[in-house]
Amino acid sequence: MKTSKNLSKKVSRSPQVGIVMGSDSDLEVMKETASILETFDIPFEMTIASAHRSPKRAAQLASSARKRGLKVFIVGAGHAAHLAGTVAALTSLPVIGVPIDSSCLKGFDSLLSTVQMPPGVPVATVAIGKAGAKNAGILAAQILALSDSKLEKKLEAYKKELEKDVVQKAKKLKHPT
Ligand code: RP5
Repeated sequence: MKTSKNLSKKVSRSPQVGIVMGSDSDLEVMKETASILETFDIPFEMTIASAHRSPKRAAQLASSARKRGLKVFIVGAGHAAHLAGTVAALTSLPVIGVPIDSSCLKGFDSLLSTVQMPPGVPVATVAIGKAGAKNAGILAAQILALSDSKLEKKLEAYKKELEKDVVQKAKKLKHPT
């Protein structure tokens, strides 16, 4: 039997983050985003759309996002990467862009085409490649944590772990302070 409790549980697990990438060849990088969102237990959807090869699909994903309950987009693309900008043009949700290092310019092209948005249409652009993909997930978690104190605590614990790791590494050095 569907109780209102069950129903609200289901609603609260609907995707909060939409990951979109330009091609399946971006998956190796964008897995980092998925993995960190899983760490923080944030429900997400992940799909492929291309600003150049399937512009209508990209537009549809962006313009229907609020209705699907999404709160943040994370968009990864390589080469002349216009996907994050296309999504940002069609939604008022925050868009985080991940420049993918898939071309012979090793992501410098996608970095510039993702970050250099015109005034009025921001894309919060992270570092090129896997580090950026991971940070995009953390940044999305930080945005969601503004209205989620449980998630805020998880992020604080995550930061403490990072610090602990550094201290451990320092202790392993031959001449520690
Ligand atoms: C971009 O072109 C994609 O985001 C990908 O990084 C790159 C290459 O795509 P494939 O030729 O591997 O499909 O649009």
